[in-house]
Amino acid sequence: MNILSKPSWALPETEVTPESVYLNRRTFMAGTAAVAAGVVMPAWADASPELAELDYRSRPDLSTQEKLTPRDAVTGYNNFYEFGTGKGDPASYAHEMSVEPWTVTVDGACGKPGTYDLSALAPERNYEERIYRLRCVEAWSMVVPWIGIPLADILNQFEPSASARYVYFETLNDPAQMRGQRSRFSTIDWPYREGLRMDEAMNELAFMAFGLYGKTLPNQNGAPMRLVVPWKYGFKSIKSIVRIRFQEEQPKTTWEMLAPQEYGFYANVNPEVDHPRWSQKRERRLPSGLLSPNWVETTKFNGYGEQVASLYDGMDLRKFY
Ligand code: MTE
Repeated sequence: MNILSKPSWALPETEVTPESVYLNRRTFMAGTAAVAAGVVMPAWADASPELAELDYRSRPDLSTQEKLTPRDAVTGYNNFYEFGTGKGDPASYAHEMSVEPWTVTVDGACGKPGTYDLSALAPERNYEERIYRLRCVEAWSMVVPWIGIPLADILNQFEPSASARYVYFETLNDPAQMRGQRSRFSTIDWPYREGLRMDEAMNELAFMAFGLYGKTLPNQNGAPMRLVVPWKYGFKSIKSIVRIRFQEEQPKTTWEMLAPQEYGFYANVNPEVDHPRWSQKRERRLPSGLLSPNWVETTKFNGYGEQVASLYDGMDLRKFY
């Protein structure tokens, strides 16, 4: 979230793959010929093992109908400071992280603490697709077809206690695999940390993603498991999670720790509350280029007010930004 001299959102046309390729594939998959292996190869299909195809149900009721952001933009223009601060760094270096095997440690105020294997936490048969807007605090946005499981379903397995008022998440902390953590210029106190109030975490929109565009999450998007909280700025959607803790106190979170006057714990998308250094009234919808920035108006709670506004009844959203 540095200020860059060159607009970091300028995306060359060559990085853009039409999402019709994806939509055609979905139509194809739905047909009876879907098992006729090798008949159709989407343009972005590749052989890398972490991109295994996933089987999932779609949830059109909880999905936007807006135009999808092309897959190449979703997987090529990222924030994942563990691999560098440039938008292309995660796509270049995240393959240096091994996501197999992957365990998640669960502790704090719950009935079933422990260290869990990923496959035990999130059986593929429960996967569903949610097409959500993702609005970064830096004023760019995307529309992403995520695949995953409602966060409430993940968390309820651990039987949170009544005293658990917040849930805290941590990303992998392994400088040997994450070159951004080795950098002398990094100002982040690793690991990357995030958190939600329990009622936020239990909202039907809060989602744990394991895939996107029909395939396993690429490492740069937070493999093997990342949060998606679509009504909040993107920095709440923590990637590559290795720890979940239930607790009574509000957790300390990475961007709030770094610059509390700029980034709050709540971080709800809100065009009425500007960032101290830039406006939050509009956003560049990717793909966005110098000549066609593709500005769209930012909406309160990123357009999800119907589902989430009541969580904040009586709260001053200027104070709790
Ligand atoms: N999670 C970790 N561990 N490290 C990060 O740097 N960046 C956040 C969020 N999750 C980040 C992270 C920010 S600022 C955004 S906008 C989103 O990831 C971007 O997600 P994407 O790269 O999949 O679009």
